[in-house]
Amino acid sequence: MSFDFTSLPDRRGTGSLKWDKYAGRDILPMWVADMDFLSPPCVRDALARRVAHGVFGYTVPTREAAAAVRGWLRDRHEAEAEAEQIVWFPGLVPCLNVICRALGTDGDEVIALTPVYPPFLSAPAFSHRASVSVPLALDGDRWSVDMARLEAAFTPRTRALLFCNPHNPVGRVFTEAEVRAVAALCARRGALFCSDEIHADLVLGPSRHFSALRLSDAEAGERIVLMAPSKTFNTPGLSCAFAVIPEANLRQRIRDAARGIITEINAMGYAACEAAFREGEPWRQELLSVLRGNREVLYDFVARETPAIRLRPMEATYLAWLDCRALGLDDPASFFEKGGVGLSDGKLFGPGGEGFLRFNFGCPRTRVEEALRRMKAALARR
Ligand SMILES: Cc1ncc(COP(=O)(O)O)c(C=O)c1O
Repeated sequence: MSFDFTSLPDRRGTGSLKWDKYAGRDILPMWVADMDFLSPPCVRDALARRVAHGVFGYTVPTREAAAAVRGWLRDRHEAEAEAEQIVWFPGLVPCLNVICRALGTDGDEVIALTPVYPPFLSAPAFSHRASVSVPLALDGDRWSVDMARLEAAFTPRTRALLFCNPHNPVGRVFTEAEVRAVAALCARRGALFCSDEIHADLVLGPSRHFSALRLSDAEAGERIVLMAPSKTFNTPGLSCAFAVIPEANLRQRIRDAARGIITEINAMGYAACEAAFREGEPWRQELLSVLRGNREVLYDFVARETPAIRLRPMEATYLAWLDCRALGLDDPASFFEKGGVGLSDGKLFGPGGEGFLRFNFGCPRTRVEEALRRMKAALARR
């Protein structure tokens, strides 16, 4: 290993959402989706250079960051994007909210496949749109899109499908055929296909990611692809994300809806984004091998030590979706929190999330093992 994925950075007292939640308590935070790893040296060096410059005035998107994004999309995802098609946002959550605001009128509908990252469900409501949940199907051990159910959920008021690929929290990487089928359905029904691909660079395999940017305009209809360097390179606190919007009118509608509400990206965000996408690939490859190792630890531990918890194949992300329904606990999240492990409560992920917990294994292996030991001990004590 050329990079450090074993030391445990002390994040207490650094204004960390993940760690401050449990400040002063012996609870390991394994919840919100950032990692307990240092960002790659190339990112830290780029930030240091930017700090050394010493002037932090208002920004515009840098040509270099856009070029780095385009190069990354081409090299990693076989996808093309023109620089003007990239619309920068200080985060994908504000972007999801702007998209809902930009489409249709009050009372129109936005579909999401549940369980799903909670802002997919709150964004429509914040813009007075109705959030329509379509549960993912579970065939044996594999989550999939129930196409018949999805099709039935469309109404004349459906404006968009918010699609999450790779899917947070179930960890599916949808196949090319699945992406094409879902996009085609949206196109047929005149709804925007919004594909959030923030986890696309965290595919652990064996599957491969198929970017919705590879669809043709004719087959996809209106589409937006959301990405960011932040999950992969552990920079969400730098607030830099982007939407790729190939179609000019739609792009203008989104820009109009963001006007005066969404801030410019901070200068550090552009510097980190450029460095990550230009130079971060060797670090990412090591990260993926560390995460694959952590995934094996989870598979083994759960199978051997806590078999009542079910863990289905995880194709991407550092978020494990633990099926705790067979444990018979009233409130699994509080139960394990009392046992010293802070997990995300599946209830927050919408219909189908009850009885599940999301476990963030984006941290050194010793911490994953410690959290699992604590969970086993809590179960043994009850
Ligand atoms: C699918 C998905 N979209 C968006 C986000 C958050 O994006 P941002 O930090 O850019 O708002 C997350 C964070 O976990 C996520 O999982």
